[in-house]
Amino acid sequence: MRIILAAALLAGTAVPSIAQTAAPAPILTTAEAKDVWTHAEPEVARVTHVALDLDVNFATRTLGGSALLDVLAAPGAPRIVLDVDDLAIASVTDASGKPLKWTVGPRDKETGSALTIELNGAKRIRIVYRSKPGATALQWLPPEMTFGKKKPFLFSQGQAILNRSWVPTQDSPGIRQTWEATLRVPGDLVAVMSAEKLSGDKGEPLPDGRRAFRFRMDKPVPPYLIAFAVGDLKFRPLGPRSGVWTEAPMLDKAASEFVDVEKMIDAAGKLYGPYRWGRYDMLLLPPAFPYGGMENPMLTFLTPTIVTGDRSNTDVVAHELAHSWSGNLVTNATWSDSWLNEGFTTYFENRIMESLYGKEQAAIYADLDWDTMQREIAAGGGQTGAATRLHGDPGAGEVDYTKGSNFLRMIEYTVGREKWDAYLSSYFDRHAFQPQTTAGFLADLRERLLKGQPELELSLQLDRWSYGAGLPGNAVHVKSETLAKVDAKLAAFNGGGPAGAVQPRGWTTQEWLRFLKGIDKTQTPARLKELDETLGLSASSNAYIQSAWFELAIANRYDPAVPYLRAYLSRIGRGLLVYPLYKGLMKQGEWGASKARDFFAEAKPTYHPSTAAGIASILAAGAERE
Ligand code: BES
Ligand code: ZN
Repeated sequence: MRIILAAALLAGTAVPSIAQTAAPAPILTTAEAKDVWTHAEPEVARVTHVALDLDVNFATRTLGGSALLDVLAAPGAPRIVLDVDDLAIASVTDASGKPLKWTVGPRDKETGSALTIELNGAKRIRIVYRSKPGATALQWLPPEMTFGKKKPFLFSQGQAILNRSWVPTQDSPGIRQTWEATLRVPGDLVAVMSAEKLSGDKGEPLPDGRRAFRFRMDKPVPPYLIAFAVGDLKFRPLGPRSGVWTEAPMLDKAASEFVDVEKMIDAAGKLYGPYRWGRYDMLLLPPAFPYGGMENPMLTFLTPTIVTGDRSNTDVVAHELAHSWSGNLVTNATWSDSWLNEGFTTYFENRIMESLYGKEQAAIYADLDWDTMQREIAAGGGQTGAATRLHGDPGAGEVDYTKGSNFLRMIEYTVGREKWDAYLSSYFDRHAFQPQTTAGFLADLRERLLKGQPELELSLQLDRWSYGAGLPGNAVHVKSETLAKVDAKLAAFNGGGPAGAVQPRGWTTQEWLRFLKGIDKTQTPARLKELDETLGLSASSNAYIQSAWFELAIANRYDPAVPYLRAYLSRIGRGLLVYPLYKGLMKQGEWGASKARDFFAEAKPTYHPSTAAGIASILAAGAERE
């Protein structure tokens, strides 16, 4: 029965270019494509288009309005199931306004609730609702947490399954939907979204003094990529199809840091096929933004911690841009395969950096990723640790980036760059706007690239890489000469040499990280004082340097760094740069645990709900161990 329904739903989707047609993007029905993080039953009834119409209210911290959903249901399907999380739902009707029966199921703390709607033949449903102030996708920033310090700011972060806290839809990466939105915001603020802008940079004035901004995404995307921000934003063009949005105080710095973005788009297109999304703009957010970057289509969201003045962290831009292929064109069908998004992207990102800046520059990033991978594999239980698998439990993807990208690099080195690049380019093209699983990728690779060459199959070890634990022996360690020079200084320092001999002038973030992460973990207070005073670590304006330094300081219970640490934790919200510090504190008995609790209590209002939840679980896990 299910298979017949699925076939009926999928009929007509076998056309080669889905984007250009009105046919909805296909869903996958294999066992590996079953998403355990959604309540939806897409093979019975699925959403194909979402139209949002929302008022943004900073005073109540709510979004209120409606969602109009286009539904594609199997013949006679009685109901549709959506994902919602703590939404205040006022009504559900069909397009003509006739009420439909609906129920909200119990709330799971991870996946939220099922919203089940009796269809009664409806092809369109309208949900009138309001998000709650605690919506997990949204972060409402008071003016003091912005660069301008005068006006509030709001942004959404949907990946992985947070958008159900403000958009009632089927929130699964395998259920692609086109969408449109109207946002009404205070008259002195600007709204931006991960879509084509229909209403001009300043929006349209409303009689009550507010402004309306309209957007449209006409390509089917997984719903985690629906994103918006509202703030006192300005725009600076950087190229014919690129530019940056940010608050006025950051505009010059952002434009200078991201000056090469248009070249990156060109390079990416030359590697793996045309950029299919029209514009590529960036939004530089306040430091509370929980990630380095987020690949929202047409509008990458970025942390300001990458703006270090020397362009050394624009690999993050290359990364988010690369997701325009790996992730946004070809999307992990479930979060168990997030390495298909992140591993492919990390590999692709490195190729973009190589195209623009050469082999050695790319080697620096790849070499550091190798170090990170070694640490992650050790932390995940080593060669037999279940957490070191690529295809694994959803959300457990510690090694997705590093082991995933190394997997693809190994294939490149084994089959040769020319063949591999041609394959990858055709892969993105043939699977554009479709979900993908590990099994699907391997089948495609075997059919198109290996073409029944058993010796190649044997040397690649595809299944071991995809499903096995640890690191296979054919992994490729790319080594950087620049970092080898840092290693020499590191060896001298670890051997007792003076901090004054380090001479880090002109070091990029990557050289700093190689040095700081390589310092022997046990240090005396005198030695830490020498390091801090000579190299200016506590007061560094580079958050990567500060974070790596605080890790070392915490491991040695070094009190003079604590006031800096405390201020840092209330300013920076990027998970990658704060989680290790809370984890480190929790390992230092009551000296650290008390600080972790106090600093978190103080900083919690400054964190995105998902970051706050992540830190709360670090603290809870630490408390259990004691
Ligand atoms: N898609 C991720 C961010 C993400 C991951 C959000 C998981 C929610 C859940 C993004 O592309 C990313 O990987 N960002 C990295 C930067 C990258 C250069 C490693 C980050 O946030 O640090
Ligand atoms: Zn990514």
